[in-house]
Amino acid sequence: RFLDSLHRHLSSPGTAILKREEPPAGSAEPGLQEKSNNKTFSEVQKERREQAQRSILISCPKKVPEKKLLKHLCQHGEITNHFFFESFGIHAVIEFSKKESIASLQDATFIPRGETEFPIPFKSRFFHLNLKNPSNQTSDGMLVQCSNQSSPLNADLIQTLCNAESVEGQIITLMRTLQITEENIRLRYLSCSLIEDIAAAYFPSCTIKPFGSSVNSFGKLGCDLDMFLDLDDIGKNSATKTAGPFLMEYQVKSVPSERWATQKILAVIGECLDNFGPGCVSVQKILHARCPLVRFSHQASGFQCDLTANNRIAMKSSELLYIYGSLDSRVRALVFSVRCWARQHALTSSIPGAWLTNFSLTIMVIFFLQKRSPPVLPSLDYLKNLADARDKCIIEGNDCTFVSNLDRIKPSENTETLDILLCQFFEYFGNFSFNKNSINIRKGKEQNKPDSSPVYIQNPFEPALNISRNVNESQLERFVHLARESAWILQEDKGRSSKSSSHPWGLAALLQPSVSNKSKAKKPGRGPTGEAVRKLLESIKADSSKHSAATREE
Ligand code: CTP
Ligand code: MG
Repeated sequence: RFLDSLHRHLSSPGTAILKREEPPAGSAEPGLQEKSNNKTFSEVQKERREQAQRSILISCPKKVPEKKLLKHLCQHGEITNHFFFESFGIHAVIEFSKKESIASLQDATFIPRGETEFPIPFKSRFFHLNLKNPSNQTSDGMLVQCSNQSSPLNADLIQTLCNAESVEGQIITLMRTLQITEENIRLRYLSCSLIEDIAAAYFPSCTIKPFGSSVNSFGKLGCDLDMFLDLDDIGKNSATKTAGPFLMEYQVKSVPSERWATQKILAVIGECLDNFGPGCVSVQKILHARCPLVRFSHQASGFQCDLTANNRIAMKSSELLYIYGSLDSRVRALVFSVRCWARQHALTSSIPGAWLTNFSLTIMVIFFLQKRSPPVLPSLDYLKNLADARDKCIIEGNDCTFVSNLDRIKPSENTETLDILLCQFFEYFGNFSFNKNSINIRKGKEQNKPDSSPVYIQNPFEPALNISRNVNESQLERFVHLARESAWILQEDKGRSSKSSSHPWGLAALLQPSVSNKSKAKKPGRGPTGEAVRKLLESIKADSSKHSAATREE
């Protein structure tokens, strides 16, 4: 039943025009998409977290005796869902219908004791399937079908795009190929939940929630897993008990600053993950960063994790992006294309540096869509005006209020197609006055730049902060140059009637390592100048001598 629904989920037509109703990846069960469409961000999170608490992770042998495995597990309770995936070996995610089944399984589970290994006992929800009689069991074992957890290879992606019918079809295919899947989302919530078990040893009733691209509807297979340690619920419980004469010394200890408290909390949790975290390796405590974090690799799930605490604004901005991504199906499609394009040209990187980040690029796409006429997306101020009393949210003096109920937001009257929007995005930012103007999604209008940073994108909830403060002049130049080139390529393609499946065209052409050699017919007066022209000529020269056969026929 599970494989059927997975198949239905993955085989949805890649080139169909998306309707507004289509929910973001993973916000719904496959086959139940319509029903959960109108859930708010916190409802989705709550449901997913509860599902993760009923789930376990099992490291399995190469050939999994699937039936036997399920039969064993069924003794502890009903299984509502399961799937297999590969990360340093085969793993299974098993979802029980009740949490109690896990305690029952834990009670019936051995803690290994070897002669050379000295395990530290910790009742985790990460198990190892130990075959008592391997030869017997292996004959029963099968190579199970594994759910895909990584992006396709570049060449395969380009080929898939070339087979599409139109640029719009390519954009939608790209999104559907790269977006995180239902299983990947379950695994992300489960990983947070497993880390929560460890953190709860220190801070009972703390929660660990995913944020960033895992939940904001723009997640790509392979993206990092941002985790937020929330200790607020603990505070909430004790806040009501102010009448008695006692103060709890164990929980309440005065420290010089909130930042200091965050650093100390993350330090002990980092230590805990390093010593007791099953499957947690390469734990780094990066406590002096602007936003202190613990970075580690969760080997069992394959995720690179960044654990932060006291980071409520980032959680709120994830919700805002989720709302923008859910409002109009063109938003996610466009963001995926722009993010993928930027990554292909090394405009973004997984290493921190002077380049644009995916978060900045997403805000740029949202801003561009607010600027269309009629707008595709409303301003943040408009979303704030639609908020009700329950939506009110002030964090550290910053007003983070906006409507959470998607039904209250009027759909856009803009009917522009995705190919027009993608081309216009490059045209818009290829000619944007970065030297004078800042990007402000709260107003949906550019503002005068308050300082001389090359790119100024106002943080939606902390107006005094620029989210692209790290970007330097030369990275901006590269972005502008590539944006113009890409706009020309898409415009050139417009007139072409026959689409080739062997030579990259449309979006596939934009994702080629160098777009420079594709734009021979530059429009006068709009080309890049000075240094950029020199680099362009150099790259044409280098490319034509090295790969003359590979260039596209004009
Ligand atoms: N964030 C922020 N301000 C920044 C950077 C990040 O508020 N200057 C928040 C955003 O909510 C962002 C989240 O932190 O979504 C996680 O940051 P990051 O991992 O850098 O971005 P993602 O959106 O998760 O994208 P990626 O796929 O690159 O991880
Ligand atoms: Mg991230």
